[in-house]
Amino acid sequence: MSNSHSDSFRKLRSNWYHAVLKLHGSDKLQESVKDNARQLCSQLSTLDGKPVDPLPYLLNGSINVLTNFLLGVHYKIDDENFQTVSKMTKDLLRNLMGYVQAKMTASITPKWLIRMHWFRKLKMKIFPKYKEMCELLYLKFQPYIYSYIKEHRKGLDEENFRDYMDFLLDLTRTDSTIGYHTIGFTLVSLYIGGTDTIANTMRWLLIQLALRPSLQNRLYDEISTAKSNKGSFDQKDCPLLSSVMLENRRVFPVADSLPHQVAEDVEIDGYRFKKGDFFLGSLASVMRDPKNFKNPDEFLPERFLRNGEFVHDHKTDCVNRGTLDSMMHLTNYAINKESENFVVDDSEGHKRRFAAINEWLRENGHDVGQVWREIDDVIVKTLISAQNTLQHNYRTCFAHHSEKSACFEILGFDIMLDKRLKPWVIEVNHTPSFHTDSPMDKEIKEQLLEDSFKLIHVKASDRVVALNAEKKKSQDRLSKKERHKPDMDRSEKLAKRALADAVWESKHLG
Ligand code: HEM
Repeated sequence: MSNSHSDSFRKLRSNWYHAVLKLHGSDKLQESVKDNARQLCSQLSTLDGKPVDPLPYLLNGSINVLTNFLLGVHYKIDDENFQTVSKMTKDLLRNLMGYVQAKMTASITPKWLIRMHWFRKLKMKIFPKYKEMCELLYLKFQPYIYSYIKEHRKGLDEENFRDYMDFLLDLTRTDSTIGYHTIGFTLVSLYIGGTDTIANTMRWLLIQLALRPSLQNRLYDEISTAKSNKGSFDQKDCPLLSSVMLENRRVFPVADSLPHQVAEDVEIDGYRFKKGDFFLGSLASVMRDPKNFKNPDEFLPERFLRNGEFVHDHKTDCVNRGTLDSMMHLTNYAINKESENFVVDDSEGHKRRFAAINEWLRENGHDVGQVWREIDDVIVKTLISAQNTLQHNYRTCFAHHSEKSACFEILGFDIMLDKRLKPWVIEVNHTPSFHTDSPMDKEIKEQLLEDSFKLIHVKASDRVVALNAEKKKSQDRLSKKERHKPDMDRSEKLAKRALADAVWESKHLG
């Protein structure tokens, strides 16, 4: 399994989003959803209107659709193979909390104690579900997934990925740290995260609809009209349905408090979190907070409708690309300027001069000098983190260049200030845009270039000196002078300079 801050985890996450984008809405998946809905309805109709908890039926449906998405297989509910995967998933869900408790306990137990045989035995006794879960994972689920890995490898077509397993197998080719074990655990996590959540959300939805027959009728009309207009169903044409589903998730957010572990010491809003600490954020407390939603405890789908249109920023979607996109474009000017909310104004708009920001800070009683000192500090620290790699690359590319620095780079730092004015580095652009589409842009970027050239301190004559040095070196090489009579003075000078540079750099790394 991969750590959520490791490179492999990031690759897995982005691979997952690609798979969702590509496979979501595919004919095969649509067909699977429809068939499962049919199977569900026919099962419920056999109950003859008797009261029933629909959860087990909904769970079967969500396991079946997910299996189609992940592994490309579509089962009939009474199929023996489906019964096996369904039982395994339900057992996973049943033992999950015991397993998480044991894992959390282990993370705060000293390592030497964990290695003791008697301690492991004790752990299994205290957390019997942990033992059951381990057996389930290693003896049942992993072999089940390995059989699909084997089968998928044979039919893998790079041009045409059939399901999520194909996407994962493709990833193993480019990243040697992602192997079958990771594939197995990734799929297990999706079975855990994507089945019970859907089934319980649907169950809440059914309860809300049962309580509101008139809403049922409005939904029925909306779906029928949308379907007859286009000949097929598209959720985009059903704003009421979208808002009902979102409001259902807002009022009844299943998976309320998933544990998160702090990756490194951090201070947020004056609260300090130490590396390794666990915290549980409650989704319900946000969703039911009157500061965020008017009459938060009431089920009011209309809150997401404006003039009959569904209005939503996708922040609450866990598998939707909206979350990824909204972060990805946070500091992207080229995209932000297209927004209808983008304000162009030198002193009040979304793009301002530093002078305007300093003025704002001063007017609001902040210490401008301190803010900039802290910004400088994060920039320097970011550069220090890349120093070793840069130094190595520079020496490899310009091993014989001694006169001056041989190259330079202008970096664009995206910095976000939180409400306490603490700066956070969002990203560093190594090829920042020099495109200018406003007089203010032109003025700022031209000045930046002028300052950069002043800083690197190049004169036109430097070019001639460097060219002459190059020319002399190649002439020496051609006449083999260099080989027979090495220029000791020059080598010594180079070595001394390299040493002085290294000493200076290490002294100034903070
Ligand atoms: C209505 C159903 C669902 C609900 C209510 C739900 C809820 C959530 C929540 C609250 C999170 C954030 C957890 C956190 O970081 O604290 C999350 C993340 C996630 N969920 Fe879901 N989930 C649902 C369906 C699904 C399905 C069907 C899948 C996949 C088949 C899925 C896969 C994921 C994944 C991969 C993440 C991690 C996303 C990331 O960190 O980039 N979820 N879900």
